[in-house]
Amino acid sequence: MLKETDPEVYNLIRAEETRQQRQLSLIPSENFFSPAVREAVGSVFAHKYSEGNVGQRYYEGNQYIDELEELVFKRARRAFNLPDDWAVNVQALSGSNANLAVYLALMEPGDVMMGMYLPDGGHLSHGWSYEPKAQVDPNELVYLGGSRKVHITSRLFKTVQYKTSPKTQLLDYDEVAGIAEKYQPKLLITGGTAYPRLIDHERMKEIADRVGAYYLADIAHEAGLVIAGVAPSPVGIADVVTLTTHKTMRAGRGSMILAARDMMSKINRGVLPGLQGGPHNHNIAGICVGLGEALAPEYREYQRQIVINAKFLAGQLMDRGFKLVSGGTDKHLMLIDLTDQLLSGKQFAKALDKAGIVTNFNTMPQETRSPADPSALRIGTPWVTTRGMKEESMIRIAEWMREVMAIAGGWVDKSEADYLRLAASSGEIGRIAREVEALGSEYPLAIKSARYAPSRIQGNSSLY
Ligand SMILES: Cc1ncc(COP(=O)(O)O)c(C=O)c1O
Repeated sequence: MLKETDPEVYNLIRAEETRQQRQLSLIPSENFFSPAVREAVGSVFAHKYSEGNVGQRYYEGNQYIDELEELVFKRARRAFNLPDDWAVNVQALSGSNANLAVYLALMEPGDVMMGMYLPDGGHLSHGWSYEPKAQVDPNELVYLGGSRKVHITSRLFKTVQYKTSPKTQLLDYDEVAGIAEKYQPKLLITGGTAYPRLIDHERMKEIADRVGAYYLADIAHEAGLVIAGVAPSPVGIADVVTLTTHKTMRAGRGSMILAARDMMSKINRGVLPGLQGGPHNHNIAGICVGLGEALAPEYREYQRQIVINAKFLAGQLMDRGFKLVSGGTDKHLMLIDLTDQLLSGKQFAKALDKAGIVTNFNTMPQETRSPADPSALRIGTPWVTTRGMKEESMIRIAEWMREVMAIAGGWVDKSEADYLRLAASSGEIGRIAREVEALGSEYPLAIKSARYAPSRIQGNSSLY
């Protein structure tokens, strides 16, 4: 139908579908969803306004929306093994909004917020600001921000950011504890976009408790791993947990907040009226279907394979001379440290894209370059694992990455425009793109909609 009514948009959708089929996304925050999730997202729930919470709406006609949200709560309770006195909010429109709603509920302007330093892997919404052109001392383990208040959190709150250890590139919990003692935050946040290791939630909660701070665990990246028990769960440990539903979780686009019931009533008010108007009910329907799929037995195998693939890919890359931040990964993502390679993060990402391998350039611990052209490349395995790939495909991906570095490394002295032109016209890069596409054709961009398994009892026991 769209084809006839609006061929322009139809053609863009088809073109994007072809791109997604032909290329391999190694962006660790990306995934794709089952037809059942997409059907729910495309449903009539998009038409309805439903400001408020279950049974307490400011609009009439919400009986089915109420049932839908109740169903999300029920499924989330099982997926995340929620304690009886914990509750769920599924209305925040994104992970960033979920975090903002928590801040609105728990903090006052001027309070101190403490999160992970963004160049070491923290997220913008954990209080990022910086000082343009200022050199940051790589051995200083705390960062207090700068005059460029790029994220609203840095305008509203005093922000303190802890870094990873310069020696190990891992979190040093004693250092974090010392910084918390010194700056007395109201909120201590963990989680990030590019930290390849697991987080000790018990230790973080202890640090927060000692200074009277709330502990927020942002598991935007790890939510699927946590459901499956392949990454430790902060549920029942942290005061609040936020997550996105569209990364490892593979449950449609959106977010969830998990917290004890009394705190949740404040957080609900943070979402509405604090931050948003009507929830996006069609996305909530998608999340509900995705949560159902997460309760099916094969989900656990899927999440386990994400980590197996990531660890295997990490080993293959290191065998080919690539250095990884912290020496590897515990989960779905890794950061390739390019400081001893010919290409910068941006140059490598651009050449890989022409070879059909989609990645993103990223800062890394002890970064000396600008975020616009940093020293690292961030990659991960959720998407390729959803496509059904296993270890043997990781060998091919690592080898293609080595080849692209060797080929494009020869153009490093060229101007940016010439570099991009060479990457786009190179026969060798074109050959890799065809090989990538051929591998992709063995693993089509399609997953079965897993059947919701109402009888399954979920646990968070580790598979390792
Ligand atoms: C740790 C973390 N928190 C929050 C977010 C924000 O999520 P969204 O893009 O849905 O706003 C992200 C997204 O990458 C993230 O990695």
